[in-house]
Amino acid sequence: MIYKNIMRLGGLLILFVLLNSCIKNGKKEMNFDAEKSDVLVTNFKEQFRPQFHFTPQEKWMNDPNGLVYHNGIYHLFYQYYPEDIVWGPMHWGHATSKDLISWKHKPIALFPDEHGLIFSGSAVVDVQNSSGFGTKDNPPLVAIFTYHLMAGEKAGRNDFQTQGIAYSLDNGDTWTKYDGNPVIGNEGIKDFRDPKVFWHDETNQWIMVLVAGDHAKIYNSSDLKSWNHLSDFGKDKGAHGGVWECPDLFKLKVEGTQEEKWVLLISINPGAPNGGSGTQYFVGNFDGTTFTSDHDDEKWIDHGTDNYAGVTYNNTPNEERIFIGWMSNWNYARNTPTEKWRSAMTLPRELTLHKDGEFNYLKNYPISAFDKQLEKLENTPNTKNEKIILENLEVNQMDISFEVPLDEDLEIQMKNDGNEVLTFQIDAEKNEMMLDRTESGIVDFEKSFGASIHKQVYVPKKESVEIRIILDHSSVEVFVDKGRYVFTDQIFPTKHYNALMITPKKIDQVHNFAIKSVRPIW
Ligand code: FRU
Repeated sequence: MIYKNIMRLGGLLILFVLLNSCIKNGKKEMNFDAEKSDVLVTNFKEQFRPQFHFTPQEKWMNDPNGLVYHNGIYHLFYQYYPEDIVWGPMHWGHATSKDLISWKHKPIALFPDEHGLIFSGSAVVDVQNSSGFGTKDNPPLVAIFTYHLMAGEKAGRNDFQTQGIAYSLDNGDTWTKYDGNPVIGNEGIKDFRDPKVFWHDETNQWIMVLVAGDHAKIYNSSDLKSWNHLSDFGKDKGAHGGVWECPDLFKLKVEGTQEEKWVLLISINPGAPNGGSGTQYFVGNFDGTTFTSDHDDEKWIDHGTDNYAGVTYNNTPNEERIFIGWMSNWNYARNTPTEKWRSAMTLPRELTLHKDGEFNYLKNYPISAFDKQLEKLENTPNTKNEKIILENLEVNQMDISFEVPLDEDLEIQMKNDGNEVLTFQIDAEKNEMMLDRTESGIVDFEKSFGASIHKQVYVPKKESVEIRIILDHSSVEVFVDKGRYVFTDQIFPTKHYNALMITPKKIDQVHNFAIKSVRPIW
């Protein structure tokens, strides 16, 4: 009896110690299973919860940050507010993955401090220990981010955004802020943020690109601590319907050639072609000092409304360019009908550059590692009345693909028993593709969400191209011609879609139809 009581007391003591260790810096941290660093606060089965896209266990998330590969692990940091499901004082949340498909949730990486909230930024592996934060044997991971000082903003000042750095010597588990922060101060630029840093091999230096309202600024550094302003880009280039945010600059080979070009991604809010937030890109050259664009016009990576603030991984093993975006839009991000968490990331996508006549354009398409989540279904569709019809099959967690020429009309519809319908259409006469979510489910939480049909002009093609539609409960991603034309949209159907109907102009032009269910990652 006494023995039992002692054991019980011991158990209580352990529980008390464990609970206490979850309180750090006066903040409640999430609970984790020690083995799997996995879920205790959710079973990931709530209504609308994506099953194979990254979501935080709970609360608010926006931009992906600090995308970096190090020691066999892909890190995903993200803008995170752990106290609510609306935007608030920003932290960097953290998750890791071996394949970019399944994720482990990790404790919060960066907390606000006396210099401000922790806004978006990037991370690098400082291989040569140029910063001196680690050693050559244990090179530091260095995060470069924007500090946003609320007090400055409230006082109506213009200098409240500065750039800071932090380092980790244990693969991103714990972080130390540099005591010389901020490393770049502010001389009165109201929107001055989102540093993307990378190592520039050709000139043997660190390069940073950040945004300053209506243009990008480029800096260099030899040690990640002192930065020198080199050049500006973009005041008179591309789209300017809103503030420039979250830049990224990287080199890509033009597919099928030896030519190398530089690509600059710039998110912009508002001012996207289909409303609110969107991401434009420039193709050009970078000589270690200045970026020059080959074109003045606007180019967009996605014509849906829910792919924002996307950036690419540093240090990937085979130098692939892997991109992740935030699957939301500032027009309605705070109003979407989820309760426990808010918003998801896009699937990781590989960016590739292609030539069409004089111009180069960017494709974005799910990385091939995603294919291992797919399970081909044997359902043979009916081909009644020249339509492809699949009924009594839930398609909310599916990858549907087929091939058609891009010079005929086409309609694809997904429907449920509640009269909700999601439509993708090709209008060959207008050379226009469109995604229509106006009746796709719950749309009335914000007026612009259900109001518009998202359109994109395309170049017709007689040869067959792939149309691939990936549905994950509250998102749809449409990739045409392997990512030349892309639509990423959130959707909130009240019931699962259980009918799929494809209406081509000529049924015998549809080839390689495949429907695959996608295994959950949680
Ligand atoms: C983009 C953005 C960034 C900023 C962050 C704040 O969505 O506005 O410019 O750093 O979100 O959370």
